[in-house]
Amino acid sequence: MKQNIYDNALFFKGYEEIRNRKFNYNNLLERPNFLALMPDVKGKVLLDLGCGKGEFANDCVLKGAQHVDAIDISVNMITAAKERYKSDRLHFQQISIEDILLKSSHYQLITSALALHYVADFEGVIEKVSHALCPGGVFLFSIEHPISTANKGEEQWILDEKHTIAHFAVAHYRSEGQRTQNWLVDNVVMYHRTMETILNTLIMNGLQIEKIVEPMPTEEAMELLPSLQKEQHRPSFLIVKARRTI
Ligand SMILES: C[S@@+](CC[C@H](N)C(=O)[O-])C[C@H]1O[C@@H](n2cnc3c(N)ncnc32)[C@H](O)[C@@H]1O
Repeated sequence: MKQNIYDNALFFKGYEEIRNRKFNYNNLLERPNFLALMPDVKGKVLLDLGCGKGEFANDCVLKGAQHVDAIDISVNMITAAKERYKSDRLHFQQISIEDILLKSSHYQLITSALALHYVADFEGVIEKVSHALCPGGVFLFSIEHPISTANKGEEQWILDEKHTIAHFAVAHYRSEGQRTQNWLVDNVVMYHRTMETILNTLIMNGLQIEKIVEPMPTEEAMELLPSLQKEQHRPSFLIVKARRTI
């Protein structure tokens, strides 16, 4: 079953509040590391899965992409994207990643930022992505790191007697499947998969892994947002760049 939590009014309001902050995990950690792995988009046909309010898709158009398709399950997100960005070379569609039908060998680049941990059928999506990429095409995605998604509600941050962080505790790493979190609202559904499953699913679908990044904040970023120091203990995100070989 697909959950469309970004159309929950309370969740969306809380998420907007976080994303509008000058310093957040997206701006200081995920985004710069994701962008560092982006190939040149000039003249290319792109697809962005889970595009949110479409800023990244629009940036690709501004950087010279020939055409960008961008999809998201959330009415809130796609409505905002369509209001904000208009171009003949940009097409937004409200549809889930699971339901979209993609043409074979159509895209030179497929991206997805922080959306695939919401998808139950990871293998089905990767199969679809591989089929939709041209040979030599790139798939670049970020997700919540498996170390961070493993636990089933146990306390993760273990403090010492001085109330500073002693370590990050991981449990249930091997138990793949649904997790529910209380983040902004109760019962936010996401899916935990091991690193082994994530990477082997790409490999089995003809996607050659070119680079993996577990983003570490810069010193400057940690000064701007001190909670980022926790990344020393465990990564929040995993970013993977892969290429269709055949
Ligand atoms: C954390 S936001 C990231 C948005 C955007 N990629 C960014 O980096 O700013 C996750 C997005 O994934 C979308 N999403 C979650 N599950 C989805 C699904 N099954 N199909 C399509 N979009 C989905 C959400 O609606 C939301 O816009």
